[in-house]
Amino acid sequence: MFLLAPFVLAAYGVVVFALDVSVPVSAPSKAPTVSPALVSFSIEQDRWLDWAGSTSRNEFAYNAFNNLKEITGTPPWIRIGADSEDHTNFNPRIQFSQTKFPAETATVPYPEASNITVGDGFYSAVAHLPPGTHVIWGVNFGQANLTAAYLETRSIVKAFDSPAVREAGITLDFIEIGNEADLYINNGARNSSWNIQQYVAQWTTFAANVSAAAGINADSRVKFVGAAFAESTRTTSGFSPQSAFKAGLLDSPSGAQVKLISQHHYSGSFCSGSGGLLQNLMTKATIRSNLSSFSPDITATHAKGLSYFLGETNSYSCHGAPGVSNTAGAALWALDYALYSSQIGVERTHFHEGIGYKYNLIQPATLNRSILDGSPLSTPLAPHIQPAYYSAIIVAEALGDSGSTQVYEISVNNTRIAGYAFYEGGSLQRAVFINSLAFLKGATSRSSTHLLLSFTDGSAFATMTIKRLKIGYADDTSGVTWGGQTYETSDAKVSGDLDVQVAPVSAGVDIAETEVVLLTFGS
Ligand SMILES: *[C@@H]1O[C@H](CO)[C@@H](O)[C@H](O)[C@H]1NC(C)=O
Ligand SMILES: *[C@@H]1O[C@H](CO)[C@@H](O)[C@H](O)[C@H]1NC(C)=O
Ligand SMILES: *[C@@H]1O[C@H](CO)[C@@H](O)[C@H](O)[C@H]1NC(C)=O
Ligand SMILES: *[C@@H]1O[C@H](CO)[C@@H](O)[C@H](O)[C@H]1NC(C)=O
Ligand SMILES: *[C@@H]1O[C@H](CO)[C@@H](O)[C@H](O)[C@H]1NC(C)=O
Ligand SMILES: *[C@@H]1O[C@H](CO)[C@@H](O)[C@H](O)[C@H]1NC(C)=O
Ligand SMILES: *[C@@H]1O[C@H](CO)[C@@H](O)[C@H](O)[C@H]1NC(C)=O
Repeated sequence: MFLLAPFVLAAYGVVVFALDVSVPVSAPSKAPTVSPALVSFSIEQDRWLDWAGSTSRNEFAYNAFNNLKEITGTPPWIRIGADSEDHTNFNPRIQFSQTKFPAETATVPYPEASNITVGDGFYSAVAHLPPGTHVIWGVNFGQANLTAAYLETRSIVKAFDSPAVREAGITLDFIEIGNEADLYINNGARNSSWNIQQYVAQWTTFAANVSAAAGINADSRVKFVGAAFAESTRTTSGFSPQSAFKAGLLDSPSGAQVKLISQHHYSGSFCSGSGGLLQNLMTKATIRSNLSSFSPDITATHAKGLSYFLGETNSYSCHGAPGVSNTAGAALWALDYALYSSQIGVERTHFHEGIGYKYNLIQPATLNRSILDGSPLSTPLAPHIQPAYYSAIIVAEALGDSGSTQVYEISVNNTRIAGYAFYEGGSLQRAVFINSLAFLKGATSRSSTHLLLSFTDGSAFATMTIKRLKIGYADDTSGVTWGGQTYETSDAKVSGDLDVQVAPVSAGVDIAETEVVLLTFGS
C-alpha cells in the first residue's frame, strides 16, 4: 500500500503520510558488527579534572558515562586531549593542574586554555572513570617540545600502572601525539613550510621517544593513534591519512604501532544559530554527505589493516551553534550521525565535550554564565545533561548488551526518515526510526508518517514494543523524554515510569516530525 495523498485525522488536525518499509529479518552479509561504545567521548583536557574530579570522583559525570555501561555492558571510550593537549606541559611540583584561560567572549563563553601545566594527579584522576573504560590520551606536539611530551607520557604510564586504575580495569589503549597538526600553520605552532613530510618526520621523532617512555611495541597493549587531523584533503597530497601513509607514517618501528586513524569532523562552523541551521544539521542527506565524503580515507586506512574512527566530532565548531547544538534536534542529528558512521566503516564516534560548550551531551560542572552568550546567570546551573545525551542512550539500547550486534541501514524512501535494524546472532531484534523534519517553535501543524512494516525474509514477527523519544519542539533545550522517562535529573540517573506500547506489527507505527521510535520485535 502506498498512499500518495496525505489524509487528515480531523480530531487532531494531524497530516499523516504512509510509507512502506521492509526490514530484513536476517542480518544482511554487509551489516557491520558495531562497537557497543559507538557513541563515545572526547574531552577538552584543560578542564579534565572537572569531569573526573581531582580528589574524589565527579558523581554526575560518572553516572552519565556509567548509564551507558549499564545498558551495553561496556562504558564509552574516553579520549582526553584536543586543542589544549598542545598547550600542556608537565611539572612534577604541581599536584593537579594550573590553567590560564583567555578572556571569555559572547561567542566563546568558555574558551580553551592558552596554557596548562599538569602534575601526576592530573593523570591519576583517570581512576574516577567507570571500571573497564578504554582511554586515549593526547600529548603535546604543537609546542615542539619533546621534553613536555616525554614527561607527560611518563606520568600517564604511571597513572595507568597505579593499583586503583589497574583494579578498575581502566586501560590506556592509545596515545595521540598532537591535535589537528594540519592546522599548525594557522595557529602559529609551525611556520609556513610545514607539510605532511615534516609532520611525519617530526611525529616519528616524538613517537620513538614516547614509545620508549611508554613501552609501546608489537607486544604492548598501548598503541598509537595516527593523524587526528581537523580536515582531510581525501587525496595522497596535503594532510590526509593516505598522504601520511605515503610520506611514511607507518614505516618506522614506532609508526608500525599506529593501529587506529583518527579524523576530526564538524558539520560546519557557526557562532550564531537559527531554525534553518538546525534543520540543515538534522537533514538526512547532509549527514550522509558529510560522512561519506571521508570514504576514500576510510578505504585507504582499512587497506593498511588499521581501524578508523572519528576521534573528535560534534555538530558545529565554535563549541556549537547557540539554539542549535544545545537543542533536542541535535539529539536526532547525533543519533543518525553515529549510526550512519557505523555503516561506512567508522569504529566509534567520539563526541567532543568541554565545560560549558553548547554542543555538550553532558554538562558535568556547575555553570555560572550562559553557554549561549556568556552572560552571568543569576542562579548557577547545576550539572545536567543536554538533549543530545539521549542519542547516546538510544544507541546503547538499540545495540543492547550482546557485544556483537550488527547494524544495517534500512532503505527508507523518504528524505526525512532514516531507519536502522539491529541483529543479534544474525537475527533481527530491534529497529530505530528517526524523523528528522524539524518541528520548530511557532509551527502549528505537526505531520506524522505511518510506517507500514514488512519483513523481507524469514518468518515475520507478530508484535513489537514501541518506545518513543518525545520532543516538544526541535529547538527545545529540555523536557525531552525517552519512553516517558527523563535523564534531566540532578544525578544523571534515569527517573520516572517507563511508558512503552505493545502493538501488532501489522498495525504499523506513527512517527511525528522530530521524533524517534525504537521498536523491539517479539514473536
Ligand atoms: C605556561 O605557564 C607556566 C607556569 O606558569 C610557565 O612557566 C610557562 O612559561 C607558560 N608557557 C607558555 C607557553 O606561556
Ligand atoms: C626522550 O626525551 C627526553 C627529553 O628530551 C630525554 O631525556 C630521553 O632521553 C629521551 N628518550 C629517548 C629514548 O631518547
Ligand atoms: C619544554 O618543556 C620542559 C619541561 O616542562 C621545560 O622545562 C622547558 O622549558 C620547555 N622548553 C621550552 C622551549 O619551552
Ligand atoms: C620553518 O621552520 C623550519 C624548522 O624549524 C626551518 O628549518 C625553516 O627554515 C623555517 N622556514 C621558514 C620559511 O621560516
Ligand atoms: C555538512 O552538513 C552541513 C549542514 O550541517 C552542510 O552545510 C554541509 O554542506 C555538509 N557538508 C558536506 C560535505 O556535505
Ligand atoms: C561556578 O562557581 C562555583 C562557585 O564559585 C564554582 O565552584 C564553579 O567551579 C564555577 N563553575 C565553573 C564552570 O567555573
Ligand atoms: C519513492 O517515493 C516516491 C514518492 O515520494 C515515489 O515516486 C517513488 O516511486 C518511490 N520509490 C520507490 C523505489 O519506492
